[in-house]
Amino acid sequence: MRTTDRKFSQSSGALRLRDSILGDWLSGGIIVSNIDLNNRPAFYDDEGFNYQSYWTGRNYEHKAEVIAIRRLLGSRRFYHAADIGGGFGRLSVVLSEFADEVTLVDSSSQQLALAADFLAEHPGVEKRLMDAASLDFPDASVDLVAMVRVLHHLPDPTAELAEVHRILQPDGVAVVEVANVAHALNRVRHMVRRQPLPLIAYDIRSEAARESGGIPFVNHHPATVARQFKDAGLRVERVLSVSNLRHPLLKKALPGRTILAAERIAQVRLASIQFGPSLFFLLRKPT
Ligand SMILES: C[S@@+](CC[C@H](N)C(=O)[O-])C[C@H]1O[C@@H](n2cnc3c(N)ncnc32)[C@H](O)[C@@H]1O
Repeated sequence: MRTTDRKFSQSSGALRLRDSILGDWLSGGIIVSNIDLNNRPAFYDDEGFNYQSYWTGRNYEHKAEVIAIRRLLGSRRFYHAADIGGGFGRLSVVLSEFADEVTLVDSSSQQLALAADFLAEHPGVEKRLMDAASLDFPDASVDLVAMVRVLHHLPDPTAELAEVHRILQPDGVAVVEVANVAHALNRVRHMVRRQPLPLIAYDIRSEAARESGGIPFVNHHPATVARQFKDAGLRVERVLSVSNLRHPLLKKALPGRTILAAERIAQVRLASIQFGPSLFFLLRKPT
């Protein structure tokens, strides 16, 4: 059993969750170690928080992620995709462009209930309650996995990545998104403070959220996750830097089409310097 350095209670309210998300840009953070998998609550079941509403006003971020997924998957076709931690199905719809069958997996019944509505016009997307650390799929039963905005909640994703590897067939691919602690703004921030960037998961919650023990919200160092992917037997094929222009002032100043055109270019050009707050990895399970 893995150890815990704090208790994560499910009673965190909408404000604390929002604080945690904003904390990415606003606050410092602390380094956290592992969590106790047996003590983990079902995430996103808080009645005071509706993850679908979180996306109101985040058209740029959503479209930036859709561009990244389409770019990474190109013209490939898949027979079975698993959207792990798929939430209300925002990206399951995109996966269904590429795969004959899509299964949305989430540990939150509330998210699956939202997905039932959101995916009403996509009845082919199956919805299943599962924990990413113990997936109820046979070995080598899918050829595409997506995990977007999920590692953000996993200080140590070892068990979940092992599951991704197990359920993927040889030569299958995974699109895994990582909240990037080494994004450009944070690098400047750490340089000014003369602090090295943390190599292990970095807790970005507000102090209040931390003290009351909300769900984990962590950013990861790209070098560390690259090693974790390798240890899980997953080969990195490509990386994109995503949501590069996420700053509120830029979003306000630039018209929708302009910001997305710039984002499209930045995703590739800025990938090598890991500029953006979000990195999209294309991983492959070698044959
Ligand atoms: C930030 S949301 C992302 C949802 C979706 N991937 C998207 O990008 O819209 C994180 C989702 O991961 C789910 N989740 C977190 N930890 C999980 C776990 N251990 N197993 C399965 N789902 C998990 C949460 O319930 C939530 O729906």
